[in-house]
Amino acid sequence: MTVPAPIAMLAELTYRCPLSCPYCSNPIEMAQKDRELPTDLWLDVFRQAAGLGVLQLHLSGGEPASRRDLADLVRGARDAGLYTNLITSAIGLTQRRLDELETAGLDHVQLSLQGTDAAMADHIGGYAGGFKRKMQAAEWIVDAGFPLTLNAVVHRQNLHQLPDAIDMAVAMKARRMEVAIVQFHGWAMQNRAALMPTRAQAAEASRIVAEARKRLEGIMVIDYVPADYHEDYPKRCMGGWGTTGLNVTPDGQVLPCHAAQTIPTLTFDNVRDRPLADIWHNGSAFNAYRGEDWMQEPCRSCDRRKLDFGGCRCQAMAIAGDPAATDPVCIKSPLHGKIQNMADEFAADDTATLTYRVSPR
Ligand code: SF4
Ligand code: FES
Repeated sequence: MTVPAPIAMLAELTYRCPLSCPYCSNPIEMAQKDRELPTDLWLDVFRQAAGLGVLQLHLSGGEPASRRDLADLVRGARDAGLYTNLITSAIGLTQRRLDELETAGLDHVQLSLQGTDAAMADHIGGYAGGFKRKMQAAEWIVDAGFPLTLNAVVHRQNLHQLPDAIDMAVAMKARRMEVAIVQFHGWAMQNRAALMPTRAQAAEASRIVAEARKRLEGIMVIDYVPADYHEDYPKRCMGGWGTTGLNVTPDGQVLPCHAAQTIPTLTFDNVRDRPLADIWHNGSAFNAYRGEDWMQEPCRSCDRRKLDFGGCRCQAMAIAGDPAATDPVCIKSPLHGKIQNMADEFAADDTATLTYRVSPR
């Protein structure tokens, strides 16, 4: 089977973060700081990625600004020929650091939004005063002229703020906005009862996004990730396993997606031990769910299998207990009814409290 080159690499530079968002996609067990790859190793990984054919590098975390060497990493990635996108809460970014990043050649900033006012944002981020710092840094980012994407993760607690969030993105002159209804992996899985949108909220979010897309045509592009559990067909997760992207964790493990470590039958290679191209082409985890040979019925004979590749392997693991099963979101899955009932039950739980992400020291 010929494997095309990946388009994008997500480099999770660190799991450290000043925020504690209860839907963080980082694993529950996180690598400690002293196991983070050092600067020279990351720079080597970036060069290997460019050699492999990667075009876009997403610098993420945790909070990537927690790395003091961030500007050096951006410079090295640019020198390797990669387009660099910083995915940040902006907390910890000062004007001086933004100047350094601009000089280093940073191409794009993706700013996360936890809420549109201090009460909501600080509650969700678990950091008193965080919203104020974020808004100050957002002003510097806009003034510096970085192309900006505003990234709003929405859920039952903040979905009523979606129209305000879209207005904020326009006011910040964002070129793009990503509205993502929370997906249940990582810490979000622990918080399904507190975050699950109601069916009515999910439908209203789709209506708001459709209206805004029409109104803002030519001004701002809106990408939209709908409420997964309430859908009839699953998402094309990662654009298909091992087809378009790869993730590197802070300690150098190379994953086909951010939640792949929840699949206990997989083993992962590390950039300390094996070249990136070899991992991409020949690594066992990357080949586990490539193509269609691994599929079971009903996916195996379904005419949508090239559209969604059977959905999300990590969700199949989490709900069906089998990573090769049809994603239970799919209406053809025997577990579709179970996931829909689960969604309604979680959404009706008005006693659930948030379990906040715990950051490594
Ligand atoms: Fe997708 Fe499988 Fe459902 Fe078909 S049966 S729509 S391939 S998840
Ligand atoms: Fe792993 Fe969807 S998150 S395949």
